[in-house]
Amino acid sequence: MTIIAANWKMHKTRKDARAYLEAFARQDKGSADIIFFVPYTVLDVFTDAGYTFGAENFHPEEKGAFTGEISLPMLRELGCTHVLAGHSERRHLFGEDDRLINRKVLAGLGQGFHVVLCVGEQLKEHEAGKTWDVVRTQLERGLDQVKDADRLMIAYEPVWAIGTGRCSQPADAEQVQKRIKTWLAERFSKQVPVLYGGSAKPDNGKDLLAQEHVDGFLVGGASLDPEQFAALCRL
Ligand code: 13P
Repeated sequence: MTIIAANWKMHKTRKDARAYLEAFARQDKGSADIIFFVPYTVLDVFTDAGYTFGAENFHPEEKGAFTGEISLPMLRELGCTHVLAGHSERRHLFGEDDRLINRKVLAGLGQGFHVVLCVGEQLKEHEAGKTWDVVRTQLERGLDQVKDADRLMIAYEPVWAIGTGRCSQPADAEQVQKRIKTWLAERFSKQVPVLYGGSAKPDNGKDLLAQEHVDGFLVGGASLDPEQFAALCRL
């Protein structure tokens, strides 16, 4: 089944989240595997809502003197089963490097979570024809020492397409996603789902999903509106 994941980023209060879930439940036809990545403060609104959900960020250590951080055991207690690692906003706005991202991937998988590792090139790298070099390096470093890909997913999110309305052309996304899937199949000898992220919307989603190596989406802006997100889930 197609995997459609929402990444709410820093949006929605608890009141907003409750209203969203009510509206979304009226629209959802159960035609996709849906995952909600939401802010820490609304995670427990999802605890008994009947949807798979996860955190947008976490600290790789189980506990310790890390003021302001949230650990995987804390997330598990709320019913979280999934986590994001390596999102471009964590990389570029918060200075997360491949070493830290790799620690997060290892910790998440090691503690039984499903991990979505995000990769993607910036505009200048895209224009310089370096997309695959960048993405392969992020994969190699982010997945260093990962032995078992059972609970792993990758989201290919070209940074220039995130929040810009400038979605990747389906054939361009397909070309990168095919290389990612081939690389993963060689590295792990199994199929790992690869999602596309970056201005995915109901009106461009169908052509992207028609590509052989696009297994679903990681959706930012269009996931904030229950009708739009439900429309993406129905594609
Ligand atoms: P947009 O869908 O808003 O471009 O965001 C994509 C994204 O960053 C999902 O993680």
